[in-house]
Amino acid sequence: MSDLISQLAASARTIPESGIVKLFNYGRNRDGLIALWAGEGETPTSEPIRAAASAALAEGQTFYTYQRGIPPLREAIAGYMSRLYDRPMQPEEFFSTIGGMGAIQICVQMLVGHGNEVVVPGPSWPNFAGAILSRGGVPRFVPMQFGKTGWTLDLDRLFDACTERTRALFINSPSNPTGWVASEEELRAILTFARDRGLWIIADEIYGRFYYDGDLAPSFQTLREPGDRILFVQTFSKMWAMTGWRMGWLQAPPELGQTIENLIQYNTSGVASFLQPAGTFALTEGDADARGQIARARTGRDIVCSAIEPFGNVSFAWPAGAFYLMFGIDGVTSSLDTAMRLVDEANIGLAPGSAFGPGGEGYFRICYQRSPAALREAMGRLTAWLEKND
Ligand SMILES: Cc1ncc(COP(=O)(O)O)c(C=O)c1O
Repeated sequence: MSDLISQLAASARTIPESGIVKLFNYGRNRDGLIALWAGEGETPTSEPIRAAASAALAEGQTFYTYQRGIPPLREAIAGYMSRLYDRPMQPEEFFSTIGGMGAIQICVQMLVGHGNEVVVPGPSWPNFAGAILSRGGVPRFVPMQFGKTGWTLDLDRLFDACTERTRALFINSPSNPTGWVASEEELRAILTFARDRGLWIIADEIYGRFYYDGDLAPSFQTLREPGDRILFVQTFSKMWAMTGWRMGWLQAPPELGQTIENLIQYNTSGVASFLQPAGTFALTEGDADARGQIARARTGRDIVCSAIEPFGNVSFAWPAGAFYLMFGIDGVTSSLDTAMRLVDEANIGLAPGSAFGPGGEGYFRICYQRSPAALREAMGRLTAWLEKND
């Protein structure tokens, strides 16, 4: 077997296993385990959205489809995004992809050649680095700092990390896993730097509405001007509880349209045709669902943060956005080993911080986009374990 592996391209051979999946494989069949390691809730997509897909399937919408997405879907995305950010956007800017992950892959395929670097503030969602590595590119991590006010990004360090090989900055705000949210001033400074240096920005703003200081996190959307090199990653997964549908979208300057269409053609040839009407429905009729998801995240955040707040041996700050709590436990040197112990000894599944790259070791990520009952039970188990292991 190792012989066959050695025959593969280096970019495929050397790509690391996701640390989250490692833990998932360790704990997946445990009786009664409360798994909070994945970025999703336990409630299925709402019935009307599911019914829209069933109707399209029953009608026979089973043929090859538009690479960029069916026109009504692209119009619905443009309408939704225009309303959200209060500025006109056109369907020509939007491209339907296989999840947010599909949008990330297309961004990376457009920008990263062998040996090119992409600067990534970390801890970060491991799939950014995975996508870059899969193209033979190099993720250049810039460690964020954890302090009294939570996670912060030193912009000088971010800018210093850019070399002549750098093609892009990967900015995920609100951030998975840290909950960090870039201020408008920080986004403006990053955009000015990128303009000066001719760099691209991959803006992953999928958690933009999961923001606890208002309705919408600061965004490159309100700062950008024509000609800016910004690609936006978006998804249906979180806002409408559609993680398993694998539907998202990429927003890019329309002049990239033919290139993006070509890449979609040669990667996936588009999103399943009978799913696209359901996406259209979610965007046009699904705002109550979206607001329900946001409300659930707010409640979840209160439950998990209040539960661990009294403990002296943990460090955390209330997340400003997204739906994850990243917290450290004093004295932990291997978050993977400790996460395995938490599976065995407390029957809860947390993602080990080491899965999120440099800066993540010693921390754990809890996804709190879950029912209050499940979270209360999980936090009861975690705090009992913390007491025992103080
Ligand atoms: C920051 C971030 N970007 C992109 C994605 C990908 O979303 P999708 O599941 O739609 O591929 C995720 C999923 O967890 C994420 O956390």
